[in-house]
Amino acid sequence: MADANGIRNFHTTLRDGEHPPGASRYTTEKVEVARALAGLGVDIIEAGFPIASQGDFEAVRAVAAEVAGASVCGLARCNERDIDRAWEALKFAQAPRIHVFLATSAIHREHKLKMTREQVIERAVASVRQARERCADIEFSPEDAARTEIDFLCDVVQAAIEAGASTVNIPDTVGYAVPTQYAAVIRTLRERVANIDRAVISVHCHNDLGLAVANSLAAVEAGARQVECTINGIGERAGNAALEEIVMALKTRADYFGISTSIKTERLYPVSRMVSTVTGLTVQRNKAIVGRNAFAHEAGIHQDGMLKERSTYEIMRPEEVGVPRTDLVLGKHSGRHALRERVNELGYRLNDAQLEVLFEDFKTLADKKKEVYDEDLIVLIEKHIQDVPAHWALVSLHTVAGSSVVPTATVRIRRPDGEVVQDAATGDGPVDAIFKAVERVTGIAANLREFAVRGVTGGKDAQGEVSLELEVESDDRSFHGRAASTDIIEASAEAYLNAVNAIATRRERDQPREVIGRPGAGA
Ligand code: KIV
Ligand code: ZN
Repeated sequence: MADANGIRNFHTTLRDGEHPPGASRYTTEKVEVARALAGLGVDIIEAGFPIASQGDFEAVRAVAAEVAGASVCGLARCNERDIDRAWEALKFAQAPRIHVFLATSAIHREHKLKMTREQVIERAVASVRQARERCADIEFSPEDAARTEIDFLCDVVQAAIEAGASTVNIPDTVGYAVPTQYAAVIRTLRERVANIDRAVISVHCHNDLGLAVANSLAAVEAGARQVECTINGIGERAGNAALEEIVMALKTRADYFGISTSIKTERLYPVSRMVSTVTGLTVQRNKAIVGRNAFAHEAGIHQDGMLKERSTYEIMRPEEVGVPRTDLVLGKHSGRHALRERVNELGYRLNDAQLEVLFEDFKTLADKKKEVYDEDLIVLIEKHIQDVPAHWALVSLHTVAGSSVVPTATVRIRRPDGEVVQDAATGDGPVDAIFKAVERVTGIAANLREFAVRGVTGGKDAQGEVSLELEVESDDRSFHGRAASTDIIEASAEAYLNAVNAIATRRERDQPREVIGRPGAGA
């Protein structure tokens, strides 16, 4: 809980952040991410929308039961079934919270809900009361609040607080607000809602106009004391407000805001990497705080200034946000002890068995590459965070390519039953040939939607990290694969198999999904 000058950080990475195509993950991964969020110091973790599917329900229940150190929240529409389901998932949490929402703007009332203002208030009040009978901590969101008539918004908020909501969240559901106007909404609520001092005002901003962080900060200045955000700003459409940007703005400009958060900022970079690995959503290079270039100074004048005095061009130190050092850390003579120390310093927790596997991977890499940097280690560690069982495993690979031959790939792959099978294919290039050969062995056909290679570190012997996205026609979602190797052809094969394994896992674990509207789409 935040003190007088602090704000609560409410994380919806696992709920709103789950909406972009391909970001949907499995329960064990969600629990890992939730643990990392709790370790980061977030106050409230919104773990999912329990009525949405069996998978969402189980994920919220597992996070509630297994993750300590933060409140765990579940989303529900304003109806009894949703609220019951949310409570069922949350009831074993140390500090459970039910978050109920109902749209209030004229557009939503008329076209989506077909309800009058009076009916909206009545339904909101009844639902907050129902939720309050089960759980002491209730958040209410008037969906599309930023486009709601201000008088009506004041009435709804007042009624929800009267019914028992202890947090009132003011979402800019479609990313329409601009900072001064949104701040004015928060100020008006503080001035006009008679019982506003009985609740915390929260803000939840989408990034459609690129203003989510600016709007959130303007709202904090105007008196909001809970900010809803996601790691790396992931979320529906253009995403939600990025946690790392809000936290570092408040910290770096403490002179201006005078507001604190409970976030351990040196955990920001590792958690950003973890979320990117688990969701498959790569962080853009120039992304503030956690992008690769966020602390890179290339202009000569800047470098000169930095050498004379860092503060000439650097407003934050990379260490403050946990960006790994780029100096040499380990080499092929380093032992288990040094590896464990470095892994711990980077903020990861691995058990003995995981560390042993990591040590083997590290030794293999150190044989190929003299200098093993923190970035290399992070890539190796993240392999163990992904919860994609290796149904199919690459045993060996042979490719033939060049300007005057037909690119050909031969793959040997271990099948789920243990048998090793071999097949070959030709393609437009060696990578295309590999993907076709893998398809022949696994029988899993998919379209390649995205393919990207990046050097993990500098240097000719750097590992290349391949990330790709596959789309299966019969499925409504896409699948990400990622792998790194000093040989990018091998990394491509491993990344492709990683995504194929995700498809196989999905088919195995699939549960029928109840198709319901998401907020802003018929909820
Ligand atoms: O954007 C939105 O309005 C939401 C609500 C459910 C809070 O995600
Ligand atoms: Zn949202």
